[in-house]
Amino acid sequence: LEGQPVGKPLAGKKAVVTSGPTHEPIDPVRYIANRSSGKQGHAIASALTAAGADVTLISGPVALPDPAGVNVVRIETAQQMLDAVQAALPADIAVCAAAVADWRVADEAGQKLKKDGSGRIPDLKLSENSDILATISKVGPNRPGLVIGFAAETENVIAHARAKRVRKGCDWILANDVAPGTGTFGGDENEICLISGENAASDEVWPRQDKAGVARALVQRIIRHFP
Ligand code: CTP
Ligand code: CA
Repeated sequence: LEGQPVGKPLAGKKAVVTSGPTHEPIDPVRYIANRSSGKQGHAIASALTAAGADVTLISGPVALPDPAGVNVVRIETAQQMLDAVQAALPADIAVCAAAVADWRVADEAGQKLKKDGSGRIPDLKLSENSDILATISKVGPNRPGLVIGFAAETENVIAHARAKRVRKGCDWILANDVAPGTGTFGGDENEICLISGENAASDEVWPRQDKAGVARALVQRIIRHFP
């Protein structure tokens, strides 16, 4: 049990975690979505719970069981995820691990779109979804004391992640290399660099490990952050 927190160091702390994809309906039977298994977010919710935190997990559609001892709120769309996150605030800790769809279909069809035999392709108009991580990172009475996001990148991983941290206003970003061939997407392992400052001096490169290991490492880091 090396590396496991002793006792319940996060007892009395409230945490909100987002996990999984969101589904943005095109019509009643079709949707657009990002790839996400939910494994990493769910593992973080479990590890926070094991450390004694009171955890609300806002999850998109995933093929995973609800983690034990966690208050799970299931949603489908990015808007529903944002509403559920805001309803779960205030919190001490927020971890945005969801792969939120960046766009939704602007004029969702009430009935199934039908191919009419002419080969005509529907002209889908998209709108940008709200950025949940950026929204909760904004200064205000409900801003969690520690806001953590992920940056899944396929190239220039650290540079893109560092820019994302500043753009979104969160405290930490876990830069995750998801380039094809790393096996991280949908797989069981992740390759993480924790970025907590504007220059490389504060970067922490973690050994490649399974998602439960990443979750435990993150929780160790969170425990150290709180006095
Ligand atoms: N995120 C979010 N709400 C969104 C989009 C992203 O909360 N609408 C969060 C994710 O949960 C993650 C972080 O923002 O913690 C980064 O997501 P990512 O998709 O890597 O960044 P984007 O800003 O969407 O940029 P892009 O997809 O263009 O790289
Ligand atoms: Ca995105």
